[in-house]
Amino acid sequence: MRVLITGGAGFIGQHVASRLRDHGHGVVAIDLLLPQVHSDPEGAMLRFPGDVIRADVADEQAWTGLPLFDAVVHLAAETGTAQSMYERERYERANVEGSRLAARAAARAGVPIVSLSSRAVYGEGLRAEDGSLRASHEDDPHSPVSFYGETKSRAEGVLVDEVRGAASAVIIRPQNVIGLGQALHNPYTGVLAAFLARLREGRPLSIYGDGTQTRDFVHVADVAELIAWNLEHPPRLAEPRILNCGTGNRTSLTELAEYAAAASPAGTSVIEYVDVHRSGDIDHACADLGRLRALGAPLPIRTTSDAVADFIVGSWRGDVASSQLWDDALDELDARGLVDGP
Ligand SMILES: NC(=O)c1ccc[n+]([C@@H]2O[C@H](COP(=O)([O-])OP(=O)(O)OC[C@H]3O[C@@H](n4cnc5c(N)ncnc54)[C@H](O)[C@@H]3O)[C@@H](O)[C@H]2O)c1
Repeated sequence: MRVLITGGAGFIGQHVASRLRDHGHGVVAIDLLLPQVHSDPEGAMLRFPGDVIRADVADEQAWTGLPLFDAVVHLAAETGTAQSMYERERYERANVEGSRLAARAAARAGVPIVSLSSRAVYGEGLRAEDGSLRASHEDDPHSPVSFYGETKSRAEGVLVDEVRGAASAVIIRPQNVIGLGQALHNPYTGVLAAFLARLREGRPLSIYGDGTQTRDFVHVADVAELIAWNLEHPPRLAEPRILNCGTGNRTSLTELAEYAAAASPAGTSVIEYVDVHRSGDIDHACADLGRLRALGAPLPIRTTSDAVADFIVGSWRGDVASSQLWDDALDELDARGLVDGP
């Protein structure tokens, strides 16, 4: 199978491409190689196991004159939750318009599309009647807190409309994805890269809030496996498939910092709590995996602590940005009135 991967030069895209290539499939990427994500765009192109077409998925031109493909994996997106709160036009264009054009291309070619949405469509995690936290189910209503989540929610609708009757569609909603290759210079995503930068500099690990917030951190290789499985087992044309993607386990931010410190080649580290709340952030998130189980789709096989260790150890000698970059991003949000705190 020849698979067109939008955003293929990014974190998840590179893992998906390797997984597909290892199973005998061909890959080609459309990627804008955004400077915010890629400090070494040439390196990213070289790592990708196929051609990379440098183009904007939200631009009609990007979709003309492409080599033939048998399936589309749509990953290209702007991904900074907090940044989306003030860069609305940019997020709208890349995430909603980009998805529309990707779906249109799949429909025109009559080939399956697997697209990554996000758990951000659910917004704040729900509680059961007794007050306990409840994992998000695919049928829960959309209630995004961030503009990023709103674009992802709208992109899902647009995609289903575009492919209707012409291509099979799978929408996957990953929780927090971690692993080797995630951006080390993008201060708008991924708390783990901030922890890495601080561990290397001997600074305390900084948590915004009291650290009791929970997330579901899933290893990128498990996400790639789920995407590949869906390509190999597409749903019927009339039945778009929506799937969660996570471990089904909650990890608090304090636990995440402890895992990172435990894996650090520099030894242990102190955790500090900063009394701020960024607009767009939620307190709790976790995936319900019932639908994955019922479908017989591959479940994650790696633990969160192993995924953290993989990232910290594997990225230790990488080209990591100064931790000041994350401090500056918080100041930038604060200046825009998007941070609550003393
Ligand atoms: N990483 C996570 O924790 C996570 C969680 C949930 C959902 N997702 C979704 O997974 C997908 C991939 O995320 P990732 O973590 O690999 O991010 P990433 O930033 O590493 O990769 C995204 C890639 O898309 C490219 N891109 C961005 N806008 C583009 C455009 N307009 N045209 C062409 N290329 C463009 C970037 O250059 C980058 O290479 C995204 O849709 C994201 O919303 C990621």
